[in-house]
Amino acid sequence: MEFDRGNDPEPTAGRSDSGPFAIPSQASSLRAGGTVRRILVTGALGQIGSELVPQLRGRWGDEAVVASDVREPEAPTPGPFERVDCMRSEEIEAAVTRCDVGTVYHLAALLSAVAKQRPTAAWDLNMGGLYHALEVARQHRCAVFFPSSIGAFGPSTPARGAPQETLQRPTTIYGITKVSGELLCDYYHRRFDLDTRGLRLPGLISYSAPPGGGTTDYAVEMFLHALERGHYTCYLRPDTCLDMMYMPDALRAMIELMDADASRLRHRNAYNVAAMHFTPEELAEAIRVHVPRFEVDYQVDPARQDIADSWPDWMDDSAARAEWGWAPRYDLAATTRDMLERLDATLRAR
Ligand SMILES: NC(=O)c1ccc[n+]([C@@H]2O[C@H](COP(=O)([O-])OP(=O)(O)OC[C@H]3O[C@@H](n4cnc5c(N)ncnc54)[C@H](O)[C@@H]3O)[C@@H](O)[C@H]2O)c1
Repeated sequence: MEFDRGNDPEPTAGRSDSGPFAIPSQASSLRAGGTVRRILVTGALGQIGSELVPQLRGRWGDEAVVASDVREPEAPTPGPFERVDCMRSEEIEAAVTRCDVGTVYHLAALLSAVAKQRPTAAWDLNMGGLYHALEVARQHRCAVFFPSSIGAFGPSTPARGAPQETLQRPTTIYGITKVSGELLCDYYHRRFDLDTRGLRLPGLISYSAPPGGGTTDYAVEMFLHALERGHYTCYLRPDTCLDMMYMPDALRAMIELMDADASRLRHRNAYNVAAMHFTPEELAEAIRVHVPRFEVDYQVDPARQDIADSWPDWMDDSAARAEWGWAPRYDLAATTRDMLERLDATLRAR
């Protein structure tokens, strides 16, 4: 796999007034007069949203991006925040109307390990919340981004290089909501010509917000424990291979997909995107290059191991590469170096 190590595009200067914003050229975000409407991010205080919102605001301006969540932020944020419970369609609609929203990044969901413990709540939020978001988007002609997951695959999917179009028979409630979400987004595009787009994201590695209860959380924990304690007890078997991605790549994928020329998108919901795949043992080795005395032992959690075993080792992302130019920039070595540097700086600043 080749890694494009080019620089991130220069952030576009945003406007902080309430006039027309220089937001991407998505047809459904354009009003008749040519002005562009705001971006709403649901579930914005989670692992992805807490990094996606600043990234979007860096490009389009603080006022152009409305963060929302069912809980209140712990500290004030520079741009607008709306308390929105995605289980309540009227709350999404009120935010969309009040803030003149043209694009929704719909992130609110329960992740795989939490969903396994709370299947009813997972179904209600992951399906109900998405349905409400799509219905409001249909009525207000918004574009919608939906994050699917490697969890949308199952044990009958080819494990090494899961194709873009293949058997999807997930055995987890999380995966069932993700594959259903992909289909629902496709339906809204075909039936109502709604501009829905999505990615099948692998496990995400990030340093700023804690992960929200996924099966791949061990990777983030391993970096942190290596620096804090020199030791980590891993809940997956040492040879469990899973697809992973560093957050800067994931954020770029989400933004680039929404910027992409619609006429090139054959697979709207959802594109496989990949960057690296490794086992806990291989990640520990990569960390030992920088933290030589780091030790790992294993106490397998059958619930999370069961989920991991039902997922492919890695996905084939050739459709994303061909249709909208996807290319990852961080492999395991680059991710490890950057994560350790940034976590070290955070720990020293405490
Ligand atoms: N993090 C990953 O590794 C990963 C991988 C693949 C896909 N995804 C998907 O990306 C999305 C975001 O993931 P994340 O890691 O940021 O999740 P997270 O658990 O860290 O954050 C989810 C956020 O949703 C909020 N939320 C919960 N109930 C809500 C409700 N009723 N209304 C509004 N907000 C509510 C939570 O308060 C939380 O801030 C999810 O759909 C997830 O399935 C994540």
